[in-house]
Amino acid sequence: MSRIKIKYILSNEGQLLIGQRITVKGWVRAFRSNRFIQINDGSCLSNIQAVIDFEKYDEGIINQITTAAAVSVSGILVASIGTGQSVELQADAIEIIGAAHPDEVQKTVLQPKKHSLELLREQAHLRFRTNTFSAVFRIRHNVAYAIHHYFHEKGFYYLHTPIITGSDAEGAGEMFHVSTLDPLSPPLDSDGNVDYKQDFFGKPVNLTVSGQLEAELAALALGQVYTFGPTFRAENSNTSRHLAEFWMIEPEVAFNDLKDNMDLTEDFLKYICSYVIENCQEDLQFLDQREKQEQSQKPESERNEIGLIERLNFVIENPFKRLTYTEAITVLLNSNHHKKKKFKFPIQWGIDLQSEHERYLVEKEFKCPVILSDYPAEIKAFYMRQNDDNKTVAAMDVLFPGIGEIVGGSQREERYDVLLEKCKAFNIPEEELWWYLQTRKLGTVPHAGFGLGFERMIMFVTGMTNIRDVIPFPRTPLNASF
Ligand code: 4AD
Ligand code: MG
Repeated sequence: MSRIKIKYILSNEGQLLIGQRITVKGWVRAFRSNRFIQINDGSCLSNIQAVIDFEKYDEGIINQITTAAAVSVSGILVASIGTGQSVELQADAIEIIGAAHPDEVQKTVLQPKKHSLELLREQAHLRFRTNTFSAVFRIRHNVAYAIHHYFHEKGFYYLHTPIITGSDAEGAGEMFHVSTLDPLSPPLDSDGNVDYKQDFFGKPVNLTVSGQLEAELAALALGQVYTFGPTFRAENSNTSRHLAEFWMIEPEVAFNDLKDNMDLTEDFLKYICSYVIENCQEDLQFLDQREKQEQSQKPESERNEIGLIERLNFVIENPFKRLTYTEAITVLLNSNHHKKKKFKFPIQWGIDLQSEHERYLVEKEFKCPVILSDYPAEIKAFYMRQNDDNKTVAAMDVLFPGIGEIVGGSQREERYDVLLEKCKAFNIPEEELWWYLQTRKLGTVPHAGFGLGFERMIMFVTGMTNIRDVIPFPRTPLNASF
C-alpha cells in the first residue's frame, strides 16, 4: 500500500480518509505505555498517533519501536477520542524499516529532551529531525518558492550566473581562489610569481561574491532578470549574521532608477512575509511560541517588544522609513544615545555605519524597517551611480529589526566616461571589465538592482538569531563540517 503523508491526513481533505485503511511511513518520535506511537514523516510539524494492541505483535517488533526508528504502520484511520489529536491510526500491521540503536540514540540530539542550538549545530546531520529545525527548513523552502513565484509573476527571468569567475564584483577582495595547481610547487613565471597561465583556466579565478555584473548584462537585453544562487565571501567575520557561503537573490531591472528600486525591494520583502504568514502557519506558530519561551528567560530589557508573527505583520502593514545617509548621520549625532556616549564607534559624515548605528536607527529611532540611500561614494562599490553632488552615489541599504542590513542595492553607473573614471579610482584594470564597460557604449540605459541575503531573510521570518541555524550546513571560518 502506498504511503499517505501526515500533512495530507491532517488536512481538511484528509477527513475523507476516516474509516479507511491507510499506511504511514516515518520516524518514531515517542512510544508510550507500549500502546501509543508518535510518528513524524517530515511533511509537517505534527505527528500522527498510531495506537497498537501490543499483545498482537511479537516482542521482537515491540522492542524495536524506539525513538528515531523508521517504521511503516498500516491501519484504519479513526477520529481520536483522546485529546491532542483529531485522528489516529488503529494499527494492524507494523514494519520496522530501519531500527535505531538505543545506545547510539543516547549519544545524539535525538534523545528526547531539550538541546542547545550549539549542540544541535555540532550534529547538523541529525538536527533536521527536531521540531525547530524541520520548521525552519520547511519555511526556508517556502521562501525560496515564494521568491521564484514573485519574480515569475512580474515577468522577470531567472538567470544562472557563473559560480567560478575572474571578476571581483564588490571590489572587496574577499574571495576564495579556485586553482588546480599544486600548492606545494606551483609553476613560476620568469619573475618568480605563480604562473596562472598554466592553471586550469589560464588565469586566476575565484568563487563569485555576486552575480550582479553578469545580471546587468542580461537585464540590458531581457529587461528584468534575477539571480538566486550561492555566493562566497572569505571575510573573516565570525558573527551571527555572516556566512562564508550564503545564498543571494539579485534582481536587475533596465530603466529603473533608485526610487523604483526601493519600491521593488519593499514590495518584494512584504510579499515574502505575507507568503510565509499565509502558507507556513503551523511552523510559524511553533517558532513564535518557541521564541516567546526563550524570551521569557531573558531580562526584560533584552526582550523583543513584539513577537515573531506580529513582527511579520508589522512589516507587511507599515511603509518602510526612507532617508538618506546624510540625514541618518544627523539623526545619530542628535540622538541621546550619542550624547550619552553610548555608541562604541565614532559618528561623522563619511564613516561606514556600524551595526550598532544601523540597529539604533531601526530599533530605537524609527522602530520599523529603514531604507538608507545616497551613501558617500568612497564606502560603496565602483558600479554605483554618481549623484550630482559628486560626493554620494545612488546606493540603498535596507535595514531590518534584529538583523541590520538585509538588502544592499543601487542604481548603476550607466555613463561610460563616469564608469571608466570610477574603475581608475578603484584601481580596477580596464582589461578585466572590458565586457561590462562595453555595454555602456551599446545602447546603455539607466538600470538598478539589489541583493537580498537569503539567510538573513530566513532569520527574520523564523526568529532564529544565529545565521548558522537557518542554512542546513553552515560554512564559517574554521568550520566546514558535513
Ligand atoms: O551588500 P552586498 O555586498 O551587495 C551585493 O553583493 C550587490 N552586488 C547586490 C546587488 O546590488 N545586486 O550583499 C547583499 C546582501 C547583504 O545585504 C546581506 O543581506 C547579504 O547579501 N550578505 C551576507 N549574508 C550572509 N553572510 C555574508 N557574509 C553576507 N554578505 C552579504
Ligand atoms: Mg552591503
